[in-house]
Amino acid sequence: MCGIFAYAGDENAVPFLIEGLRAVEYRGYDSAGIAVVDEHGDIRTVKRGDHKASLENLAQTVIGGELSGNVGIGHTRWATHGEVNQKNSHPHTSHNSSVAIAHNGIIENFLQLKDELIESGIVFLSDTDSEVLAHLVGIAVESGASLRESVVRAAARIKGNTAVVAVSVNEPEKVVGLRVGNAGGIVVGSNAHSSVMASDTIALLPHTRQVVYLEPGEVVEIEAGAVRLFDLDGNAIYRQPVEIGRNFEAAKKGNYAHFMSKEIAEQPDAIQSAMRGRANFATGALSLPEVELTQHQIKSIDRVVLTGMGTSLHAGMFGASVIESLARIPSVAENSSELRYRDPVLGPKTLVVAVTQSGETADTLAAMEFARQAGSPLAVVLEIDGSQATRVADFTLPVRAGQEIGVASTKTLIASMTTLLQLAVFLARARGAISENRVAEIVGMLAGLPSYVSAALDLDSEVSSLAGRLSEFADLLFLGRGAQLPVALEGALKMKELAYIHAEGYPAGEMKHGVNALLGPDMATVVCAPTNNLYEKMLSNISEVKARGGEVAVIATVGDESAQRVADHVIYVPECPELLQPFVTVVPLQILAYRTALVLGRDPDKPRNLAKTVTVE
Ligand code: F6R
Repeated sequence: MCGIFAYAGDENAVPFLIEGLRAVEYRGYDSAGIAVVDEHGDIRTVKRGDHKASLENLAQTVIGGELSGNVGIGHTRWATHGEVNQKNSHPHTSHNSSVAIAHNGIIENFLQLKDELIESGIVFLSDTDSEVLAHLVGIAVESGASLRESVVRAAARIKGNTAVVAVSVNEPEKVVGLRVGNAGGIVVGSNAHSSVMASDTIALLPHTRQVVYLEPGEVVEIEAGAVRLFDLDGNAIYRQPVEIGRNFEAAKKGNYAHFMSKEIAEQPDAIQSAMRGRANFATGALSLPEVELTQHQIKSIDRVVLTGMGTSLHAGMFGASVIESLARIPSVAENSSELRYRDPVLGPKTLVVAVTQSGETADTLAAMEFARQAGSPLAVVLEIDGSQATRVADFTLPVRAGQEIGVASTKTLIASMTTLLQLAVFLARARGAISENRVAEIVGMLAGLPSYVSAALDLDSEVSSLAGRLSEFADLLFLGRGAQLPVALEGALKMKELAYIHAEGYPAGEMKHGVNALLGPDMATVVCAPTNNLYEKMLSNISEVKARGGEVAVIATVGDESAQRVADHVIYVPECPELLQPFVTVVPLQILAYRTALVLGRDPDKPRNLAKTVTVE
């Protein structure tokens, strides 16, 4: 979490810092600030802690203002230690302002270090853990160490994963960046006039397409046109820059009101993209060239564990159900923050598949690391190319949805599900669990998937009226069974995170085991009940809710008249093969959360207390 951007070049850093922070703002938008080394060699900071308005307020203050300098660092914050306000905004400075730092991560031993620094006479100006780093670097600089050496020394004192950038009045032409552990990456690039570094490659695109990713335990110095990489012992490292494949256009809203509405609308394209070069609609064949497993390994797998967090976990649940049903391998999906700590039995016969949009989620990375050490073959289903997860995994299955900026995942969910379904078919065929004909049949179904999802997107006006009604409730229940359970969980998650309405996702069969006690006119229930083998059971659940005075909305298949007779509201999704139903039922739930958020005056692109990339536990 938190976004970092740094510039060292021939021009005024200020507009570049603001532009860079806009690109990484999705990582945290509680506060924003910059520190610039001005023409006198002094460090000057400007910060705003106005919640979601911080960056815009900062931009209004500094763009076209008198602050200028060729070197600077900037930060957008997702608060962990200390309230959202100006004093806790980064960058933080050392006691005599000789050093400024911007930090991403958590300093686990900060209280102990803070006490030690206070005892030595340092006065703290913020409640953050990060300020400790500013003072530790400042003390080292004052003792005569170079900025690079000072940052390394400071980092050696702290516990926890960290990414930090720093400037010093002693070396005013330079920014130093350091990465320890998996807390958010740092990516660096340069052109003839400037060098830049940031938490995400997307922020570097206006400057260069050639970038270097810092590995944990590496430190970098940048100045106009020069980038120097070192290990923590000061040995120079040479790493060939890689070309960024991403497109800056993705980071623009175009004519859409929000990134989220743009990304929902892009889902048919995201699906196409996830199938490109994999599903061959002309021949009915399916290949997954990225899978680096031998035939022997594929045959010897006796369990698949999918892991991820939030929406990515829901994609993993879908993946587990299709892998088990098609490839006949016992498969489970497990929350990474649980998996990493429960000492699970993994090994060479358990295929572990992590699902992560960002490739930076701390818990997912830790679970992956655990799997790697246990000797499990390890795959990652991922959007952001070059992120840490690609380096931990044995192989990467890119989902290729295109950069997702809205905090709530939508198109990356759909593209991850598309990728996982193809993985299921691939494994099934490789193990002989399904025939070539069945592969061709499924590939034929996949050919229609973008249009089924397009048709689901047309439900905007029906879903908007339902959103108006549901926005009046304080509690909502989302029910599903089988492949619709992850959809129900996702519907509830989206409603919580965007509309701030308490919502629970439940297996419909669980109702009688306690949840029914909540039913009544004060809680509305959304039921995912497309026409399939569990439909009759879902109808019974709907009747039970109705019998207790609850209001019910059903996501049903077009043509289903029974749904209309039993429920208060029906959203009809297009008819499609049962295997693909979760794709068409999840879309109206995404729109429902988006529209409900708008009715309630929430900002769907910047839900409170959240950030797109969760690089701390
Ligand atoms: C919810 C959402 C989050 C993420 C979760 C994992 O809309 O986006 O629940 O799915 O934080 O993030 P990644 O996929 O980057 O590992």
